[in-house]
Amino acid sequence: MDKNQIIELLKTVKYPGYKKNIIDFGMFQDAVEADGILTINLRIISDDLEKLQIVRDEVSRVLSQNAYPNTKVIIQNTMPKVETGKIQSKASHNPMDGRVKFASAKYVVAVSSAKGGVGKSTIAANIALGLVQKGYKTGLLDLDVFGPSAPMLFDINEAPLVQDEHTIYPARKYGLEIMSFGFFIEKDSPVIWRGPLVMKLVDQFLSDVRWSELDFLILDLPPGTGDVQLTLSQKIFITGAILVTTPQDLALLDVSRGANMFQKVEVPVLGIVENMSYFICDQCQALHHLFSRGGGKKESERLKVPLWGELPLSPLVMQQSDKGEPIVSAKPDTKEAQAFMRLVEKLIDTVATG
Ligand SMILES: Nc1ncnc2c1ncn2[C@@H]1O[C@H](COP(=O)(O)OP(=O)(O)OP(=O)(O)O)[C@@H](O)[C@H]1O
Ligand SMILES: [Mg+2]
Repeated sequence: MDKNQIIELLKTVKYPGYKKNIIDFGMFQDAVEADGILTINLRIISDDLEKLQIVRDEVSRVLSQNAYPNTKVIIQNTMPKVETGKIQSKASHNPMDGRVKFASAKYVVAVSSAKGGVGKSTIAANIALGLVQKGYKTGLLDLDVFGPSAPMLFDINEAPLVQDEHTIYPARKYGLEIMSFGFFIEKDSPVIWRGPLVMKLVDQFLSDVRWSELDFLILDLPPGTGDVQLTLSQKIFITGAILVTTPQDLALLDVSRGANMFQKVEVPVLGIVENMSYFICDQCQALHHLFSRGGGKKESERLKVPLWGELPLSPLVMQQSDKGEPIVSAKPDTKEAQAFMRLVEKLIDTVATG
């Protein structure tokens, strides 16, 4: 068998409903030939059995027409790594032993990046609003102590209701429940939180905020791989993390750094999102790729983490964030909002099987 030829052939198989093929999605694992039978191993995290069957049939068809008459297609369709609440207890020195399931949400999803300013907060907010549009009860917890975004992104200026020391109610806007460090600090005042205090605050946000019974809690994390990430992942089970990057950083190993950290703390990385990948011209609506392409794909193949999507660099995204109503809520019919909605669908697909 010729593996390169097989990969080329599989590139003609699109994932149903998408323009992208199964190779570019990183779904191909390997091809093995034994006793005259070619076995193709795919990993597709989805519980849409109909789509999986279409892929299976299409792969068999393409291969049989091209010199591989006897093929078997095996699709692994669940998360291979740890799942929420199912981490077996390890030796007692493992700092992860103390994790508890977060009581107020079925799924806790962290939006993270090793580098700052790549669009975590924008993506966290728009994904959260997209989940609301899909009918999920959703909360957004902005844990960026040093540069909280939620007050601006959602134009919330008043402090949330604090009933007593241990009862804080989240703000509500556009159908979303929102809590942020930013609600408790003066605008523009410098914030000097020391490490232990930061952890105490994270703790308090996890225990004292009265969310309703949520389907999803989306965490907007500060950049990097520091205290907040570690504290969090030691305290509660995080269903998974979404890693955000931009085309330029892919070469700089930021994604690997983020992925390594989550691996260490046993949080599965659900997907990589490449932000500001292309530009949508506000005059002609055409898509322009400003940076070299394919970095996200390469990194996702290397880390064996699916590339969930590429988001446009668009003035509209920024303007809506500045106005206090993110684009998914304000202008759901735009191409930009639809790009965010595709991520939401990936997220739902992924955790629904996890
Ligand atoms: N796709 C996009 N198109 C246009 N502007 C964007 C896009 N994504 C993010 N921005 C803008 O880039 C800036 C940084 O985004 P954002 O605050 O979401 O990044 P971040 O990763 O959360 O940053 P930090 O590391 O400081 O928390 C913001 O002004 C935001 O409006
Ligand atoms: Mg941010």
